[in-house]
Amino acid sequence: MSAELEVQKINSYYGLSHILFDVSLDVNKGEIVVLLGRNGAGKSTTMLSVMGLNPPKTGSVAYRGRDLTGLAPYKIARLGIGFVHEDRRIFPDLTVKGNLEVGKKTPKGKGRKWGLEPIYEMFPLLRRLENRQGGTLSGGEQQMLTIGRTLMGDPDLLLLDEPSEGLAPIIVKVLGASIDRMRKEGMTILLSEQNLKFSLKHADRAFIMDDGAIKFQGTIKELEENEEVKKRYLAV
Ligand SMILES: Nc1ncnc2c1ncn2[C@@H]1O[C@H](COP(=O)(O)OP(=O)(O)OP(=O)(O)O)[C@@H](O)[C@H]1O
Ligand SMILES: [Mg+2]
Repeated sequence: MSAELEVQKINSYYGLSHILFDVSLDVNKGEIVVLLGRNGAGKSTTMLSVMGLNPPKTGSVAYRGRDLTGLAPYKIARLGIGFVHEDRRIFPDLTVKGNLEVGKKTPKGKGRKWGLEPIYEMFPLLRRLENRQGGTLSGGEQQMLTIGRTLMGDPDLLLLDEPSEGLAPIIVKVLGASIDRMRKEGMTILLSEQNLKFSLKHADRAFIMDDGAIKFQGTIKELEENEEVKKRYLAV
């Protein structure tokens, strides 16, 4: 199997602070891979590095065998990579529908898979809130909206940064179901999480980060059985 996304030994910085240390990970086509780690482990920085928003100083990122080094973030997005930022950046003054429409873009030479209808089917609440202003939504509703908006761009690979953070269990369940649905649609997902239970339920494979480095990699089953790793790197 050739990897859709291949991150090899990246080192990333914020100014002079060295944050990522030789981080390597891979995501195969149709796979859901979770990047687990505590607060400040480096999960978001890894995603920002992949998207070219905080490009690594050394190492490489390749998408379908193509080196992304030096590419501008919008060009990386255009290759078919969607990014849902942990801050849930919606447009507060636009309606729900308006927010979704903003995300629309069709990569050249491709039929559309996602559009308003499939997104409303996945998140029926968004249909009901269609005319509400984004800024009035709850955290969970905003999370659905930001995922929906990213899907409007029809990505093949989705980077989903801590979708369940701070949300009520019922909303987390809805988000989990949406991940299962995206899997059915053949999408490839790199998910970041602190929520182990959620990850065990929805991912195929896991990488664990701590202090900016990968400390464990394996299948979900291997992680589930590894009490030592869970105790050492995750809050369980
Ligand atoms: N803009 C920034 N400038 C300087 N340091 C930063 C910046 N953003 C993050 N850091 C530092 O980089 C390290 C990794 O942070 P990162 O946000 O990648 O972690 P994370 O795993 O996403 O954590 P969380 O679960 O809290 O989102 C932390 O030590 C953090 O303090
Ligand atoms: Mg983060």
